[in-house]
Amino acid sequence: MLATAGSAIGLGNIWKLPYMIGVNGGSAFVLIFIASIIFVAIPLMMTEIMLGRRGQKNPLDAMKVLAQEAGVSTLWSWVGGIGMLAGVLILSFYSVVGGWVLSYILSAMEGVFTNISAEGAASNFNQLLAQPLRLLMWHSIFLLLTMTVVARGVSEGLEKANNILIPLLFAILLILLGYSMSVGDMSAAFQFMFSPDFSKVTPTAILAALGHAFFTLSLGMGAVMVYGSYLGKHESIGQTTLFIAILDTALGLLTGLAIYALVFANQLEPGAGPGLIFQTLPIALGSMPAGNFFATLFFVLVGFAAWTSSISLVEPAVAWVIENTKLSRKLASTILGLIIWLTGITVILSFNEWQDVKIALGLGIFDSLDKLTSTVMLPLGGVLMAVFAGYLMKNKHINEELRLTGWAFRFWKITNTVIAPIAVLIVFLNFFGAFENFTLDPFRH
Ligand code: PHE
Repeated sequence: MLATAGSAIGLGNIWKLPYMIGVNGGSAFVLIFIASIIFVAIPLMMTEIMLGRRGQKNPLDAMKVLAQEAGVSTLWSWVGGIGMLAGVLILSFYSVVGGWVLSYILSAMEGVFTNISAEGAASNFNQLLAQPLRLLMWHSIFLLLTMTVVARGVSEGLEKANNILIPLLFAILLILLGYSMSVGDMSAAFQFMFSPDFSKVTPTAILAALGHAFFTLSLGMGAVMVYGSYLGKHESIGQTTLFIAILDTALGLLTGLAIYALVFANQLEPGAGPGLIFQTLPIALGSMPAGNFFATLFFVLVGFAAWTSSISLVEPAVAWVIENTKLSRKLASTILGLIIWLTGITVILSFNEWQDVKIALGLGIFDSLDKLTSTVMLPLGGVLMAVFAGYLMKNKHINEELRLTGWAFRFWKITNTVIAPIAVLIVFLNFFGAFENFTLDPFRH
């Protein structure tokens, strides 16, 4: 359970959710996001843990075993394949952002944020983005930290650390929230995030919110399946899922509140994009009593959270390579690490030298990778798992794992067979339409 929580809690909560709320117009996005968590992500997370515990292998081979058990085509194993590819692609930009966090640990230790102004914080971040070599160094360090753990297969130790680190992250967020409340404009933040405003419910916002529900809970790519295979037979899948989903969502929304209170008090731009937390949090952290200490601790904890998530992004692919080739874990990790490192370099360049390079649908490299994985691959992977479990697996086998009765089982069944597939289908049908009026410019600082 802790490992799954460690995978779920990461940059998605602290970095991505807050800026996506701003880019997608605030409360409408939050509302759709919460609905996506309840009606799509929670039931699908139960499915994915269930498939993992029953399959007991890497995602691709687990799906193969389960397809045989259900008496259907073993082509279903490719659901696991899409997932592993998604993980590798996500890690190539995740590691770059993980690098930003590491560089902020150093800045915090050096006292760079002490009494920093809003302009100072923004220019700091822009300077970082403008230096490819500096970004490359931090991306390399972050990826090396990840791949070292994966190559040695020792993530267990790190996962035990979650026991202390997740509560600590929660505690420091509450301190930050309290401080933001005193120096920021919490009522404006509340209004922005929670006042119902249905006029902003656009296809783009729906697509982004649904995709992020998958991203933040690590769904649709096999990470949760791998951890599900380690979950004890007697643990309750329903309770585990609910606990993680509530913790994860709360963490993201609390960070959002802390940030928007600062955004509105300092007349910053809510739609600033991926740099949002790096341009706002230093303002609060830098003016707090013992600010350097709190800023350092905060970025260290975010770094840890990102680290445990990044391990789970690549573990399914590594597990598959070593179970299906003669490569050792070390060699498999090195090769996959190199591929991710190189793809990461193109992401780095998309923030500076290659700012104008557009690859798909008029989007830059970072944005294309992000959209392709979060809004296409993860939902597709997740829904295929749902369809497989909901329509093809025998109820007897499902019940041996899920042990749901009454309304809970009906809720699981209807969300897996009807609600999630329809939601994702509608979103896919809107996909190209949504991109036509795509106005997001993530490089607007
Ligand atoms: N859930 C992680 C986060 O929020 C990211 C992640 C996505 C990890 C998919 C594994 C798989 O940061």
